[in-house]
Order: sequence, then C-alpha cells, then structure tokens
Amino acid sequence: MSEGLTASKARNIFYGGSLFFLVVFGALTVHSHFYAVNTSTNAEGLTDSVVHGKRIWEENSCINCHTLLGEGAYFAPELGNVWVRYGGRDDPEGAREAIKLWMQSQPSGIEGRRQMPQFNLTDEELDALADFFKWVSEIDTQNWPPNDAG
Ligand code: HEC
Repeated sequence: MSEGLTASKARNIFYGGSLFFLVVFGALTVHSHFYAVNTSTNAEGLTDSVVHGKRIWEENSCINCHTLLGEGAYFAPELGNVWVRYGGRDDPEGAREAIKLWMQSQPSGIEGRRQMPQFNLTDEELDALADFFKWVSEIDTQNWPPNDAG
C-alpha cells in the first residue's frame, strides 16, 4: 500500500538532490577552471614584462576610468582592444610607439575633451604596458565585448 511522501522519502530527495547538484556544480567549476587556463587564456605569451604591465595597470588604477574587456568604468575608452585598434596586428612597433606617445602626451588640454592624467611612467614601464595590452588582445574572449567601445 502506498504511503505517499513520507518524511524519510522527503529527506532522501532533499539529500540526494543536493548531492547531485553539488557534484554538477563541482564538475562545471573544474571545467571552467581548465577552460580558462588551457583554452581562453593566452598563457604562452605571459612574459615577465606582461606581468609587470599588469601591475602598472593595477597600481595606477587605470580601471577607474577605463574598461578592460568590458569591465571597469565608462569614463574613458575600452582598452582590451587598444592594441588592435592602434594597428598592432600589422605593425606591432608602430602600435607600441603610438601607445607610448599617447601616455607621454597626456593630458591633452584640448577643450571639450575628457582628460587623462600624466602618470610619468619610465620608458621600460611604458613598454611593459604595451606588452600587457598586446597580451590582452590575444585572449580568446569569444568576441567579448561585442563592439569596440566595450
Ligand atoms: C582620470 C581618468 C583616467 C585614468 C585614471 C586613465 N585614463 Fe586613459 N584615458 C582617459 C580619457 C578621458 C581618455 C580619452 C581621451 C581623449 O580621447 O582625448 C583616455 C585614453 C587612453 C588611451 C587611448 C585610448 C584610445 O582608444 O585611443 C590609452 C592607451 C590610455 N588612456 C591608457 C591609460 C592607462 C594605461 C592608464 C593607467 C596607467 C590610464 N589610461 C588611466 C582617462 C583616464
């Protein structure tokens, strides 16, 4: 004779269901981790200079005005694609020089334009920043953000 949903059946559904979804969650977390480490990240290109550039990016809080791959503030342009927009794929040296020149010539003082501070970075630091932008441009973001403006 059926007893319907007893307390012990309900408990088993609760514990069984929780365990099942915990295992699914764990498996997806492991999958995401390995996907990020092996597929989407451009790990081979991760040189000391790129790491240095990332540190400069963080120490100077560039993200307070800019976005990087769509994350950050919307006061200033998206920079995840600045290397490509400056022609880095066809002319890496030209893009490097243009980025360095940009950094050195701020603030522009042009009336009506938003201004960027002067960070007084050394030549080596500017090279590291350029290397960081180049590296970011090589991450497989699956076309995110969807447009150049981030
Ligand atoms: C106080 C806000 C602010 C901060 C902080 C800031 N920027 Fe900017 N940045 C701007 C603005 C505004 C522009 C656009 C200016 C213009 O178009 O005249 C800009 C433009 C740029 C550009 C040119 C982008 C393009 O598409 O042409 C680069 C490269 C850049 N910033 C790098 C940096 C880096 C690297 C840092 C950190 C070291 C930084 N910025 C910090 C405000 C900021």
